[in-house]
Amino acid sequence: MSTIRLGILISGRGSNMVAIAEAALSGRIQASVSILVANNPAAAGIEQAQARNLNVRVVDRRDGRPRAQRHEEIAQLLRDHSVDLVICAGFDEILSPSVTTAYEGRILNIHPSLLPAFGGGMHAVRDALTYGAKITGCTVHFVTPDLDNGPIVLQRSVLVQEDDTEDSLAARVLVEEHRALPDAIQLFAEGRLNIDGRMVRVLPPVTSVVA
Ligand code: GRF
Repeated sequence: MSTIRLGILISGRGSNMVAIAEAALSGRIQASVSILVANNPAAAGIEQAQARNLNVRVVDRRDGRPRAQRHEEIAQLLRDHSVDLVICAGFDEILSPSVTTAYEGRILNIHPSLLPAFGGGMHAVRDALTYGAKITGCTVHFVTPDLDNGPIVLQRSVLVQEDDTEDSLAARVLVEEHRALPDAIQLFAEGRLNIDGRMVRVLPPVTSVVA
């Protein structure tokens, strides 16, 4: 099986990026990180990526250019690095069509709730807590132009405790995110994700028959 090339987009801490990079390094997923793009020069994830010798570029969301122009640069970087699959790992912008069209069916996002609950905002864990949800979790989905609404690849659930704070709940959701995203990438790498409208069918693994 071949190794797929990842382009990871981040804006902040980068813990999901680290989980992916480590899964790739350990061979748990058949993927390599070809490029990491941060849209925020102060993102803590940049240092984490550099410490792992990843190829890092900054396309600053505050450099004064329109979003479409900045995202065209991101699309070009992804093409230049022959990226097979784009991962939004805590990327805080809606991707422009230059990226979503070029990589249709090849962009994954991680969201810290069980979509469609608590989608569309920046505080999904807080929203689940204040709503009084008893179960929340995370969702890996394909990115479409419709925010947080693309076909769902997989979800992992987390029980909400009565004494949870936003931080304590977010920490348990994050543990599940760090499992979910590498799992989804591996399914993609194995060619097992079949998008059929809103439905993502996970195909069975191909088993090799030894004569
Ligand atoms: C994660 O909770 C992710 O679900 C959300 O943004 C956060 C990014 O965290 N989209 P990190 O930068 O990967 O640590």
